[in-house]
Amino acid sequence: MRKPIIAGNWKLHKTVNESRHLIQTLAENLKDVTDAEIVVAPVFTALESAVAAAKGSPIAIAAQNCYPASSGAFTGEVSPTLLKDIGCTGAIVGHSERRQLFGESNAFINAKVQALLAAGLRAIFCIGETLEERESGRMYDILTGQVKEGLAGLTPEDMDKVVVAYEPVWAIGTGKTASDEEAEEAHAFIRGLLQGIFNENVADKTPILYGGSVKPGNVDGLMAQEDIDGVLVGGASLVAEDFIRIARFQRSETVQQ
Ligand code: 13P
Repeated sequence: MRKPIIAGNWKLHKTVNESRHLIQTLAENLKDVTDAEIVVAPVFTALESAVAAAKGSPIAIAAQNCYPASSGAFTGEVSPTLLKDIGCTGAIVGHSERRQLFGESNAFINAKVQALLAAGLRAIFCIGETLEERESGRMYDILTGQVKEGLAGLTPEDMDKVVVAYEPVWAIGTGKTASDEEAEEAHAFIRGLLQGIFNENVADKTPILYGGSVKPGNVDGLMAQEDIDGVLVGGASLVAEDFIRIARFQRSETVQQ
């Protein structure tokens, strides 16, 4: 009942022209895909032309970040209101690169989630443990804190606009994916958290994406897991052929047992 979401996080890559080209190629090759949502997140400067290039295609355009105020004296920032103004449907927030490189706290990420929802946009809310946290047995505490604090103050209705992305930090850009079982175990735990914080309906409805070295060769196994509802792809989303194959992952009806 949860529609799969295949999302590409382009990070700090591609000029406006390169972005437009890639979106045109994706739009042409994915135009028949109606049983999954396709989202790509280019850099800020490419967003407006990305929205134009994606028009009439199944591709939605999201930003990679936002500031939690609609306007004001916040030099260098971009608000959800402005993202909406150019046709973006949401933004990624809480990515581990922002947590680690820019010191973003759970409270700040929570403010961003709330600001996106207030603007009527979707939040792709990222969480995930580091290798050190996993190996020292603190993974579940870390995930619990990230989910509880990051989604604090939201109502069950607000959760209609939230997608959770589980991205173990040790799997990002390392070529080291979580195994299907490791990913499923974390996803099932996160779904349990949503049930405890909100209710069973929210837990059932909220899409939980996996991110971390997703490639054409491992997407089918990940997507076959019960609690994995989609993927958030970094490196492989920059290569048309790879992202197209990922969006055309093997649907479960056709998975050979
Ligand atoms: P990679 O797919 O390059 O590991 O990146 C994952 C990611 O950070 C997506 O947000």
